[in-house]
Amino acid sequence: MKQVIAALLVIITIITLFVVAFTVNQVGEEEQRLKSDLQYRSMLLTESLKATVEPNLTSESANYLQSAVEKFANKERVTGLVIYDNKSKVMAVSSTILEATSAASEIVTNAMDADKANGNFETLENKKVYILAVPMHDDKSVVGALMVIQNAGYIDDRLNEIWKNNLIRLVVQASLLSFATLLLIRWIIYKPIRGLVETLKLARMGGSEQLPKGLTSSFFFRPLVEEISNMRSSLMEARISASEEARLRLEKLDSPWTAERLKEFIKDILKGRTIFMVSNREPYIHTKTGRKIDYYFPASGVVTAIEPVMQACGGVWIAHGSGDADRLVVDSNSKIKVPPDEPKYVLRRIWLTEQEEVGYYYGFSNEALWPLCHIAYQRPIFKKEDWEEYKKVNQKFADVILSEIKNHDRPIVLIQDFHLALVPKMVKMQRPGAVVGIFWHIPWSSPESFSICPWKKEILDGMLGADLIGFQTQLHCNNFIETAGRELESLIDFERFAITRSNHTSYVKPFPISIAFPDGFDKTKDLDGKEEKERLLKSLRIKTKYIGLGIDRLDYTKGILERFKAIEIFLNRYPPYKGKFTFVQIAAPSRTRIKKYRDFAIEVENEADRINALFKAKTWKPIILLAKHHSHSEIQKFYRATDFCLVTSLHDGMNLVAKEYVASRYDEKGVLILSQYTGASRELKDALIVNPYNGEQTADAIKKALEMTAKEQTKRMRSMREIIKNYNVYRWSAELLKTIVNLG
Ligand code: G6P
Repeated sequence: MKQVIAALLVIITIITLFVVAFTVNQVGEEEQRLKSDLQYRSMLLTESLKATVEPNLTSESANYLQSAVEKFANKERVTGLVIYDNKSKVMAVSSTILEATSAASEIVTNAMDADKANGNFETLENKKVYILAVPMHDDKSVVGALMVIQNAGYIDDRLNEIWKNNLIRLVVQASLLSFATLLLIRWIIYKPIRGLVETLKLARMGGSEQLPKGLTSSFFFRPLVEEISNMRSSLMEARISASEEARLRLEKLDSPWTAERLKEFIKDILKGRTIFMVSNREPYIHTKTGRKIDYYFPASGVVTAIEPVMQACGGVWIAHGSGDADRLVVDSNSKIKVPPDEPKYVLRRIWLTEQEEVGYYYGFSNEALWPLCHIAYQRPIFKKEDWEEYKKVNQKFADVILSEIKNHDRPIVLIQDFHLALVPKMVKMQRPGAVVGIFWHIPWSSPESFSICPWKKEILDGMLGADLIGFQTQLHCNNFIETAGRELESLIDFERFAITRSNHTSYVKPFPISIAFPDGFDKTKDLDGKEEKERLLKSLRIKTKYIGLGIDRLDYTKGILERFKAIEIFLNRYPPYKGKFTFVQIAAPSRTRIKKYRDFAIEVENEADRINALFKAKTWKPIILLAKHHSHSEIQKFYRATDFCLVTSLHDGMNLVAKEYVASRYDEKGVLILSQYTGASRELKDALIVNPYNGEQTADAIKKALEMTAKEQTKRMRSMREIIKNYNVYRWSAELLKTIVNLG
């Protein structure tokens, strides 16, 4: 729009300049014409009056002279007439003049001195006039002068009128032209370009629609349209051959998995059955900023992993609508197609009351189950009223799932995480034919620690409604089976890893979750991340040689305080790094309505301040804490610009930050320092593995990372990248779905 306004301004300025120049010229010519005309008429008038008065120019004929000037003074535009003797003394003056100016006397004197007519434009009694004086003679000499004063004000009126008319014309023309330009831009440029963008978008998403008719006949866009048509055909051909190739590779699970391959795989194994994904957290959260509605992608392991799968497979994702503008963008069934810019699947939002959210999400999920499952030495809080809300909301989710799968034969329902432990049984009881899986993204610590939960049996019973229960690691599976064996009456088959209870069997299997390994980086661009680093240092306003990075939700399980302590130890142990090393901690605020989380955020800030105060110099500080949500693309810049990434979770189901960091380092540089208590440490053995409780060990790992040769960095990074590339989230979901489909 800005460009259109700029173009219009240019056009209007040019027209204005043209009209002004034209008007100046027109006014000049008109002024000239009117003045000449007035001068000519004045001359005629004086000549005819002169012929009458010249022979009678004596003091005796005063009455005659007076009546002559009165008679002539009544003529159109004549302001007054004066007759002078040869001493410039007034002999007769028309009653229309109150006073003659000194300018008039000068004109008369000059006329008599030079013995020829003399005229000029002057201002008399605040009016513009033309004064003309002609000498009068007897037989020998000049005996006096006749002066006529003509009104010249109409000349200015006329010139002003020309200006006014031309300016009105300019405004009308400029408005019409702007309007016409806008219409033309819309018809000739905007509409065809929108059409092209839409068809390109459809082509990118796999559509094969024809180009709109208007476009193909557009004179301006014909060459572009032809080129785009060719591109669309090539794209379609490429897609067909990719899908054919993917189909051929279906059974080879060890070759790289892509979105395309997963799509084909799902088509093949699901045979038209729909996937219903269910989680507490939704992938797109709509919020209001003033009158504008925006959306963002939350910092969540579940969303990071599941979203690319849904984009590849389509289907319905059922989740809690937690954004303050969520209700404004859904249809009457609480549904919206997402991603908002390029819809690929349906998001069905569930609405919770304030009381439900407080009890189910903040209360039982995050104050009881979260600390119960993570060994972070945070005591769980079990409240009966939270548990009641948890049950109620789980039933709400189950009811929505049941209504969504109502018309589907053998639907596949994939429930995510600890918020919805009771849902599998609630669904299965009503729809035994549905295949139900639950994936537990967080750790399952041990039978002893779980045994303290007052409602442990109900939770286990609810989970065992699922046909498949997935965990991140084999250890979590073992812990779960042991817990179920201890707490419930059930039959456990250790060979098949299955638990049978009330004639229903649940299989328990590890599926280490992953990310969509991005494949489309421009490998030629800024390969060593140097530019990215310079930009980052500038934006952070610091000077330092090395940068370390931490990215987490502000959660006490992430070991952020332990990490800061390790940085303090590192700088004390290895003083040459003072002034040369800065650690950037990105911390996305999380679950802030829980006091523990608010207190923790303050603790993190205080600890960063304490350490900064210990070491701070003029243009350097050891820790930069960025405690706000960062978008995916912002985070990518940090990943690529830093020398190492430090993940020190005290306990973590998987930790996808570790995998995202490795995936983003297409330059095969950088070092990952990884807590041994993350699921990711089972796979990423080329990371520097640390015990986050051991600050000295982490400090040494930081030193090792900063001093690691480029060759070794590449060796380690390459091998970790290979692992994530081969075991990406497409493969994760393919294996999970394959297992679940084989069950029913
Ligand atoms: C962990 C959980 C996820 C959760 C995420 C973010 O990764 O396993 O289920 O989505 O934390 O937490 P939040 O409470 O913001 O959803």
